[in-house]
Amino acid sequence: MSGDLKWNKIFGAGLGTVFAILVVQQVAGAIYKTEPPEKMGYFVDAPEAAAAGAAEVVLPPDWGTILPVADLAAGEAAFARCQACHNIAAGGANQIGPNLYGVVGRPVASHAGFAYSDAMKGHTAVDPAWSLDALDHFITAPGRYVPGTKMSFAGLRDTPTRVNLIAYLRSQGSTGFPIPAPDPARQPPVPGAAEPEAAPADGAAAPTDGVADTAAVQTAPAAP
Ligand code: HEC
Repeated sequence: MSGDLKWNKIFGAGLGTVFAILVVQQVAGAIYKTEPPEKMGYFVDAPEAAAAGAAEVVLPPDWGTILPVADLAAGEAAFARCQACHNIAAGGANQIGPNLYGVVGRPVASHAGFAYSDAMKGHTAVDPAWSLDALDHFITAPGRYVPGTKMSFAGLRDTPTRVNLIAYLRSQGSTGFPIPAPDPARQPPVPGAAEPEAAPADGAAAPTDGVADTAAVQTAPAAP
């Protein structure tokens, strides 16, 4: 009799344990059934990252629109910053920096009689010649665009100033350098217009939603 009782107790305890596990599973299932998709939606988090990335991309100036109406006098005034090291007269002497007459479209590191840094000579692999975009990048942050350059100049961050300056450089011996056709994909003349940035952000959101859905579907069967 006492033996039966013992087995009953053991069997009962076992059943109790199984019952407890089932209850926990049900409760846990009820909780987790709703939560994982929500959590996965936030966890993937790519739309925000993509939007931030898109916002950081600075569109290059739309030279075709902006250069013909650039302010040459303002560009000449901005060139005062460069004049400490550069002469821009035709046939003018090299100074701390090379003569810049006709520099737009001129092969990089090519001016006779100037001892360019290895960094600048090596940069010919990136830009064989000074295109408008190349000049724009270089003048924005010389040391970042051509690491190791001996042009010790912090750079001009203000886009309108750079555009006027580049228009002035072109007017000094580079008027033969063609102005490209207007390109709406580039920076509009009025800085800060939001439209071109909206398109890449929307485009990035669509595929990412797909990723989030896939992740939710994949986890759903595992939850219960
Ligand atoms: C402190 C002196 C200094 C100032 C200021 C300076 N530069 Fe320079 N620049 C140099 C030197 C030095 C080089 C040669 C760089 C090298 O060899 O790495 C150079 C190179 C260049 C080149 C490349 C020329 C070529 O033949 O490949 C351009 C373009 C240029 N500078 C434009 C400018 C402009 C535009 C400004 C004004 C916004 C400016 N620089 C201000 C010293 C200066």
